[in-house]
Amino acid sequence: MPRPEFQAPPEIFYNDSEARKYTTSSRIIEIQSKISERALELLNLPNDGVPRLLLDIGCGSGISGETLSENEHHWIGFDISQSMLDVALEREVEGDLLLADMGQGLGLRPGVIDGAVSISAIQWLCNADKSSHEPIARLKAFFGSLYRCLTRGARAVLQLYSDNASQSEMIMKAAMRAGFAGGVVVDFPHSTRARKTYLVLTCGSSSMQTSLPKGKGEDRESCSDDDDDDDERDVDDKQTVGIYDRHRLSKRMKITKKGKGKAWVIKKKNQMRNKGYSVPPDTKYTARKRKACF
Ligand SMILES: C[S@@+](CC[C@H](N)C(=O)[O-])C[C@H]1O[C@@H](n2cnc3c(N)ncnc32)[C@H](O)[C@@H]1O
Repeated sequence: MPRPEFQAPPEIFYNDSEARKYTTSSRIIEIQSKISERALELLNLPNDGVPRLLLDIGCGSGISGETLSENEHHWIGFDISQSMLDVALEREVEGDLLLADMGQGLGLRPGVIDGAVSISAIQWLCNADKSSHEPIARLKAFFGSLYRCLTRGARAVLQLYSDNASQSEMIMKAAMRAGFAGGVVVDFPHSTRARKTYLVLTCGSSSMQTSLPKGKGEDRESCSDDDDDDDERDVDDKQTVGIYDRHRLSKRMKITKKGKGKAWVIKKKNQMRNKGYSVPPDTKYTARKRKACF
């Protein structure tokens, strides 16, 4: 089954029936809640019992936001899918909900938000769903507005499923250009199924001293998700990497590639053809190396 991002734009993919199916799956609830708890942990808010004002970007039907409420925080949820937000309203989630496209910027006042999480959403920004969509410009609008609305020293933890190393690099570059410092934390890097990738970003100059948390399971510690998480995404990030300065991504960020060559691409294309998908013919350009930046 192709990934949701490859099937339709998010506001179309997450229609009424998909939004309901998503929110009634106990398996999805369990996985998304675990990821949200980990994102909140990586946010590293002061442990002083004071509720904070947080963002949940791509909040969907409110599963991730519920983790924020359970920890007594206030939150504002952004989502592009009316159907997902309708389900969130029906479920009476405690956050304030906004129907908005994060790729157009968040439009919030500067310096008012104490932290942000985003669970399984920002990879959608790498798609060009309309002729007017330019992923690099949309990432710039998103990260620029996120940086501006956060208080200095606040963190944003964005869990994502990136398609390949150049996509991860494009996302990190946009974050660094906006002014963030930080890097990538990969939990359970040795498990295809349980591996989860988080961008841990810090806003403002104090961020230069921030050390990046260690990913879980880097030393093959066991993971209960290993057998039951079938949200198997093909993420190329294999290690925890830190970037502590703007504009220095290519020097500091070394993401290993899996080395998928032409034979692998042709095999995958044949598999898609056998499943009845329309796939472009194989040519001498198939699987050619593209530049990471356009
Ligand atoms: C896999 S769901 C995750 C929902 C929620 N965070 C959770 O953990 O259950 C991804 C969500 O991202 C939203 N999304 C995708 N692209 C978006 C965009 N450009 N702006 C706002 N939301 C977007 C989708 O509509 C969808 O609700």
